[in-house]
Amino acid sequence: MAGDYIVKDIALAEFGRKELNIAETEMPGLMSLRAEYGESKPLSGARIVGSLHMTIQTGVLIETLVALGADVRWASCNIFSTQDHAAAAIAAADVPVFAIKGQTLEEHWDYLDKSFLFEDGPNMILDDGGDATLYILLGARAEAGEDIIAVPTSEEEEVIKAQIAKRMAASPGWFTKMRDQIKGVSEETTTGVNRLYQLVKDGQLPFPAINVNDSVTKSKFDNKYGCKESLVDGIRRATDTMLAGKVAVVCGYGDVGKGSAASLAGAGARVKVTEVDPICALQAAMDGFEVTLLEDEVATADVFITTTGNKDVIRIEHMREMKDMAIVGNIGHFDNEIQVAALKNHKWTNIKEQVDMIEMPSGSRLILLSEGRLLNLGNATGHPSFVMSASFTNQVLAQIELFTKGDEYNNDVYILPKHLDEKVARLHLDRIGVKLTRMDNEQAAYIGVKPEGPYKPEHYRY
Ligand code: NAI
Repeated sequence: MAGDYIVKDIALAEFGRKELNIAETEMPGLMSLRAEYGESKPLSGARIVGSLHMTIQTGVLIETLVALGADVRWASCNIFSTQDHAAAAIAAADVPVFAIKGQTLEEHWDYLDKSFLFEDGPNMILDDGGDATLYILLGARAEAGEDIIAVPTSEEEEVIKAQIAKRMAASPGWFTKMRDQIKGVSEETTTGVNRLYQLVKDGQLPFPAINVNDSVTKSKFDNKYGCKESLVDGIRRATDTMLAGKVAVVCGYGDVGKGSAASLAGAGARVKVTEVDPICALQAAMDGFEVTLLEDEVATADVFITTTGNKDVIRIEHMREMKDMAIVGNIGHFDNEIQVAALKNHKWTNIKEQVDMIEMPSGSRLILLSEGRLLNLGNATGHPSFVMSASFTNQVLAQIELFTKGDEYNNDVYILPKHLDEKVARLHLDRIGVKLTRMDNEQAAYIGVKPEGPYKPEHYRY
């Protein structure tokens, strides 16, 4: 249906298309899937709801799903992460997309709802952070008369409930119908994957799921090397501050924390890390970072970044103690890592989009990035195309698997097999001139693998 989109300005489509064309040259995994499956079209008949940052890289993902035969409708999974020219280019290519950078929370859930409105309803979900899955499951529970509580933040909970009530009034039974026709979901990120495992534990997952995040070629690349490039990019575009010599505290040393600490160290900052897990704390120390307590650094450090996927990590009592003009930001999935709600009564001065200066009762000021939402996508343009190609190649393989063989799976969470993980990596070697050594049959037999792989046992951790 022509005009079935909500974007900031459709006139940005031409700019978006130019950048999509460049991104394609940096996304060899997706482009080779187009070459491999463009004729057989394994996704013919798939009607995919996408809830994932509407960026240029996501545009290449969407057009790959379409090239493989899918019908797609798309919403962003964050109110600040949309690149309006990318959304415009995708809308101009007749893919329904509902995403504007800076949309309100009400619009966010309304746009997600609109992404479900295929004529015959969707049969697949491609999720990032789990909002699309959450929406349908909460709605179905509400239709069953259960009291529902939503997960993300208290502010958002009311918005989600209102959106669910609106849809229930307009189309009784809709959520249950949607839930029952979904064949499966592929989930992009750590936080969304945690939600899925929780659903399985509670016996509440109604369809199979593929955990894309824990493909090695996703979390050990996007979360790490992606953040290594995009964290400092976000801080610089937001503040133009000199990072060399400054003290930066990174909360969490998982995959995102490792990339974030490396990003800041690469910029010359003196990086300190906080952790709750002794293994990650030891890793940080042996990578050369001081591992300490946030409380010990809060009055003296210049930059604070949360990467934990946990809540209430930087709390109001911490922010009260920070020195004047400290920079505070989050690169984890949700904004509840920093207690932003507790700052609402303070004086906010907007500096520019997604950059606010907040005056504390003591008179000292904080620079808060993207209102505590993931700053690499709010203040900059997220990870570069090349690393997103690896993530999204896993996404497409997961969609093909669930759409074509979903009936063979239980309502559980699965990871793609290692040979596909290795295939994703292999597809990215040529572009950066990597020459792979091939072992002979005797060597392969000696270490107990096949010359063509898989090369590692399941328990290997990379
Ligand atoms: P992870 O589980 O590997 O790392 C999180 C680390 O934080 C863990 O080591 C954990 O022990 C630590 N942690 C938990 N609570 C803590 C606390 N109170 N203080 C200090 N450390 C604490 O997860 P991963 O993959 O690093 O992802 C982190 C978050 O980033 C998730 O929300 C994920 O969805 C998101 N993400 C964001 C991306 C972006 O581009 N902005 C890209 C990929 C993931």
